[in-house]
Amino acid sequence: MALSLHTKLCDMLDIEYPIMAFSHCRDVVAAVSNAGGCGVLGTVWLSPEEITAEVKWLKANTDKPFAIDVAFRTANQEIDTVERLLTKVPQEYKDFMDGIKKDLGLPEEIPGTRLERPYIGPEGAYESVKRQWEAAIKEKPAVFAAALGVTREAIEEAHAAGIKVISLVGNVKNARRVAELGVDIIVAQGTEAGGHTGRIGTMALVPQIVDAVSPIPVLAAGGIGDGRGLVAALALGAVGVWTGTIWLPVHESPLADWIKDRMLEAADEDAVITRVYTGKTARGLRNKYIDLWTQPGALPTLPMPLQGIYHPMPWSVYTEDPTSLAIFNTPQLREWVSTASGNIVGLINGRKSARQVLYDMVTQAVDILGTE
Ligand SMILES: Cc1cc2nc3c(=O)[nH]c(=O)nc-3n(C[C@H](O)[C@H](O)[C@H](O)COP(=O)(O)O)c2cc1C
Repeated sequence: MALSLHTKLCDMLDIEYPIMAFSHCRDVVAAVSNAGGCGVLGTVWLSPEEITAEVKWLKANTDKPFAIDVAFRTANQEIDTVERLLTKVPQEYKDFMDGIKKDLGLPEEIPGTRLERPYIGPEGAYESVKRQWEAAIKEKPAVFAAALGVTREAIEEAHAAGIKVISLVGNVKNARRVAELGVDIIVAQGTEAGGHTGRIGTMALVPQIVDAVSPIPVLAAGGIGDGRGLVAALALGAVGVWTGTIWLPVHESPLADWIKDRMLEAADEDAVITRVYTGKTARGLRNKYIDLWTQPGALPTLPMPLQGIYHPMPWSVYTEDPTSLAIFNTPQLREWVSTASGNIVGLINGRKSARQVLYDMVTQAVDILGTE
């Protein structure tokens, strides 16, 4: 059967192109949805109230479908408040991180930027995630996406509200597990991906998950950067692609300018796996903070969520706050912050709008396929 860009995903989500775009920036999400793909807003740092406000903003800025993504990062962990978690971080880790902060002259609080710590409200980590997904579902986005696991309760609530549920996985075992829980679409994310990632490459993972969960539709993620990647994903049996890294340096993204420049200069091998930010394996552009934890005699990283609760450095800088920008925009500190990013970073060689990135991907795919 000839491959076509109009896939089951387009029918399920009522979108023109089978391209989903993950971003923490609502402007990128709205731009992709308005251009015919489906933007996905990451909400891991946001309070339930902020999630409500972001969905309302998106609804005011696009009449097309978009997704809200919640990270179920603590679903299997004990109920804990920030204060209690902080007491569990060993003193030698606090001393180590305080030392870095002091050496670099970082202030106690960095205004206008989050340290990209997952949101934990006074109710504790477990309840916070529940409040996040409840807030997202209450606002009825077209799609609800879940990373790092998902619960049957969340899936049932989304379905009762008429919302499609997507779950990201990195191996066949977890694909089978979320299929059994009743998700509508599964994202098979290969190790090439930016952000939290597993061990299996996209090329090996996608066809195995397609076979394991059929007839549930599968999206390919990890290392997809242009029309060639999109066509390859379709050839592997996916009904579309789920992408992240390529949306970081677009015009609409508030990622600091010098980090966008680093992405344009970076090569495939510059995106490395580290546990230093969250305690779980995640891929990002190398920087001095990541390197510090790999030196001989370095402390082993702590498990999630302890590793992330005290660390002194943001992974990247998303802010227009002048004080915060001034703190990081010095030749010394620029080397300590970068961004989560996948291996496809080496393919990005110019700054474009989100609409242009989407159209270039579609145009190249149509060229290869010889048909829409
Ligand atoms: C900066 C960044 C942050 C990410 N944060 C999340 C997140 O909070 N939730 C999530 O589901 N996926 C997250 N991801 C993973 C993406 O959803 C997507 O699976 C991945 O970027 C696909 O691989 P690619 O980067 O090669 O396109 C993140 C990716 C990047 C690059």
